[in-house]
Amino acid sequence: MEEHTETSRADSAGSGAAGRRLKSEAYFQEKDLWGFIHRSFTKSMGYTEEDLRKPVIGICNTFSELNKCHSHFNELVDYVKRGVWQAGGVPMEFPTISIGEPYVKPTTMLLRNLMAMDTEEMMKGHPIDGVVLLGGCDKTVPAQLMAAASVNIPAIVLTGGPMLNGRLGGRSLGACTDCYGFTLEHKAGNITDEELAVAEDAICRSDGHCMVMGTASTMASIAEAIGMALPGCAAIPAPDSRRRHLSERTGKQIVELVRRDIRPRDIMTAEAMENAITVTMASGGSTNAIIHLVAISQRLGRKLPLETFDDISRRTPFILNLRPSGKYQMEEYFEAGGVPALMKELEPLLHGGCLTVTGRTVTENLVQAVTLDREVIRSVAEPLDREGGIAVLRGNLAPDGALIKQTAVSAHLKRHTGRAVVFESPADLQLRIDDPELAVDEHSVLVLKNAGPKGAPAMPEIGQIPIPQKLLVRGIRDMVRISDARISGTSYGALIVHAAPEAAVGGTLALVQDGDEIELDIAARRLVLKVPDEELARRRAAWKAPEPHYDRGYGLLFHERVLQANLGCDFDFLLPAELRRELLDGAKQD
Ligand code: FES
Repeated sequence: MEEHTETSRADSAGSGAAGRRLKSEAYFQEKDLWGFIHRSFTKSMGYTEEDLRKPVIGICNTFSELNKCHSHFNELVDYVKRGVWQAGGVPMEFPTISIGEPYVKPTTMLLRNLMAMDTEEMMKGHPIDGVVLLGGCDKTVPAQLMAAASVNIPAIVLTGGPMLNGRLGGRSLGACTDCYGFTLEHKAGNITDEELAVAEDAICRSDGHCMVMGTASTMASIAEAIGMALPGCAAIPAPDSRRRHLSERTGKQIVELVRRDIRPRDIMTAEAMENAITVTMASGGSTNAIIHLVAISQRLGRKLPLETFDDISRRTPFILNLRPSGKYQMEEYFEAGGVPALMKELEPLLHGGCLTVTGRTVTENLVQAVTLDREVIRSVAEPLDREGGIAVLRGNLAPDGALIKQTAVSAHLKRHTGRAVVFESPADLQLRIDDPELAVDEHSVLVLKNAGPKGAPAMPEIGQIPIPQKLLVRGIRDMVRISDARISGTSYGALIVHAAPEAAVGGTLALVQDGDEIELDIAARRLVLKVPDEELARRRAAWKAPEPHYDRGYGLLFHERVLQANLGCDFDFLLPAELRRELLDGAKQD
């Protein structure tokens, strides 16, 4: 039974749209004690009797000075409110926690589920008939979509938009792909401290989130492709006046969704999820998207196996020429037509009948869409690559799967066999990676253990294992690297991540030793630890689980209840009960 009965469709009487009784009416129209209190306290904030007869639109404002990517949200909220008022609704702004990648330690992934819970409870516990969710930085949009999937009241995502391109010496810079490049070259001794400082000033020069096809841009594209954001939303640069216009339209449209009772579960169907995956694969989107899409799908009561991603990746050409896999950035993507233009190119591969927050279908939304720059958005007939960006690897080293962003891998490493150089933990990696005595060469396979959901904790973005200094100075810029960690969507290189089960729960990764031979074959989707089964069984018998990082608080809750990467890293108790039983019973049987 749904907990939020006041907003369920079964409760449909009274003066709301289409004869439904809106949740806000239950608060403001009753003549009992609580109706009196609700009206009285609300009027004290300046709302009038007339206002209280209109649909209430919650505006989830995740502005925070601790989150650079959301620094302009107060301004966007003003435009959303303008649209809500114009359409006959009443806007009520509310906060939730806000997670910005650069500051949060140990990792924002620790707080994604907390933000999803916060957003869900704010939506459930207040007189909100519909909601506009303002997100941007990596984990915020997935957290909000997870909440919207669970609560299922009319909702629209409004992302904050990407930063303008960084500029330096005529070069276009991207955060954070060039953050890695600059620090790498500084470490190799190729640029000075002063040059590094100049680059710091030039790379982030406006409001907005990272402007390459990193996780934020990927999740913004997904929000649009899945139908939960207005067409064009993802790519409009944060400071561009057209984002303000879109914010106002979003405010108008959420009132319309409340009137028509169009809800997230009407929009985020299994077919819409496939559309989102197709767009992700065609865009060279972030590997993080897979964890988030699995989590969103499971909130909707549907499993989303990694094979679905691999199947779609195999049949989806990579056509978006954006960094880190390509050449351009979100600013050029916007000018080339943005997500609508990309989806128009992909139309034969999409489910065109899916409903979206426009109240129209994907096909109807795409009627006017056109590609304005073929250098940025290629056609399906002339792609950058025949396959999509992300490949799912299997083998004894990752029985529940591992991911590699194949479009960002150096060509000579797509098929590679090498000897393992093992780091037992992130701390061990930090201690020894630049040790001149480290027995490593460019053919080695760097292996990082205990960096997964329970291990690190919370699966931080440290899967971009640094190239050892002694190889860097020799000009080596890519090696095969394997971990149970995540990577930033802005990372590049032969990085195998999300290995599941993770080392901290006894996955095969925990058993790798220095000198073991590891085989990677991306085309065959193989990742194999070439150690005999008997030897692995002997090592497994001697294996001991690491101590948990927390003995109290939210960290302990996370450790005890987080699911593995292939199951979206959500908390088990946030899944619908039936799916929870199916997944956890299935895991026990495995
Ligand atoms: Fe927020 Fe990159 S730091 S998107």
